[in-house]
Amino acid sequence: MSTTQVNQAFRKLIVGVDKRIPVNGTRYVRYINFDNAATTPPFKSVLDGVINFCPWYSSIHRGMGYKSKVSSRLYEEARSEILRFVGADEEKNTVIFVKNATEGLNKLSYRIVEDKEWVVLSTWMEHHSNDLPWRDKCRVDYVEIDEKGRLSMDDMEQKLKKYNGKVRLVTVTAASNVTGYVNDIHKIARLAHQYGARIIVDGAQLVPHFAVNMCTNESDEHIDYLVFSAHKMYAPFGIGVIIAPKESFRKGAPEYKGGGTVHVVTRESIDWDEPPYKEEAGSPNIIGVVALVAALKELGKIGMEHIHKNEKLLMNYAIEKLNELSFLKLYGCDDGCVERVGIIPFTVSGIPHAEIAKALSEDSGIGVRNGCFCAQPYVQRLLKLTPEEISYYRYLPDDKKPGMVRVSFGLYNTIEEVDTLVRELKRIIKSGSK
Ligand code: ALA
Repeated sequence: MSTTQVNQAFRKLIVGVDKRIPVNGTRYVRYINFDNAATTPPFKSVLDGVINFCPWYSSIHRGMGYKSKVSSRLYEEARSEILRFVGADEEKNTVIFVKNATEGLNKLSYRIVEDKEWVVLSTWMEHHSNDLPWRDKCRVDYVEIDEKGRLSMDDMEQKLKKYNGKVRLVTVTAASNVTGYVNDIHKIARLAHQYGARIIVDGAQLVPHFAVNMCTNESDEHIDYLVFSAHKMYAPFGIGVIIAPKESFRKGAPEYKGGGTVHVVTRESIDWDEPPYKEEAGSPNIIGVVALVAALKELGKIGMEHIHKNEKLLMNYAIEKLNELSFLKLYGCDDGCVERVGIIPFTVSGIPHAEIAKALSEDSGIGVRNGCFCAQPYVQRLLKLTPEEISYYRYLPDDKKPGMVRVSFGLYNTIEEVDTLVRELKRIIKSGSK
């Protein structure tokens, strides 16, 4: 099949790809969504899965009624399907359902850090969600990046050595939401384990695009903890997961307490239930879980290798075309050696990021994201801002702060959409401003 035929087949799987929206109050155009790193549109099969499930919808773990039993069984079976999707050791690991990757990382920070003196190694390329939760729980240090924004494995090893066994966790993104760089999580895992640390992987930007294999615990390259969000993988309805060894959650109390978390409660005592139940307070989000499982089935049917191949083609084409535009500077896109997901950040000299994004939206019906993408320290480094510049911009509104424009692909985007983007950017740059 040609690339166009492949794209057309993928587009048929997605809700809303042909939606037309008003631009400039004068005409309608087909919306182009280049903001998939933030949220993807749903798969049709996900909505079908949810609708088909709704007649069975009932309480989870809270009833003897037939529907309650059906719902509870689906909810529990979903854990195994998710573990299998990422090649996790089913004996040792469990799935804890959360709202999204951010909540997953927050829960890990609350639940697995045992001592304020623990050192957690995060990195300069993290989303705020894999940085801020650690700051008040333990000592955090950040692995360096090079001038292109790639993670420095040398610095990681030096820091692991320097802390001499005190680093208990290395927490790293599998793929950057700013540059799309894919980190070699298995190499990092080996290094972390060699120095007695465990590894947490923020998989939010990788799991929708690449096959992920957590490996069995016998391998020194295995991933100890993985988090990801369904809303970035064609399944809305507010679900995310933590995949983690059950053992990590046996000790201590959950940070959220309430229904579904206990065996026995008296006025004087609480006997917590086993993980994962003790970590899922309140009525679980079964609709979210049904949606996620349907998305995993669809992704599995398409094949992650096809998704990756198609998105890579699109990304390389876009980089080549965007590189031809004068005044436009791409970040992290000139190194073919580094594996990347389909994310392209850029700036245009003389035109603020917010103006570019606004013009693309209002004049051309193209949705992109702009700003710092909840990864301010990383973007500040990529833009080479000095501490004085950062202080100067601190209190200005977001659209006046330095930042970038980000184009991010889903499996259904097309070469023709990239051509439209390039044409519209050329026009915006030529007119000098909106
Ligand atoms: N983390 C998401 C993004 O990069 C929200 O846009």
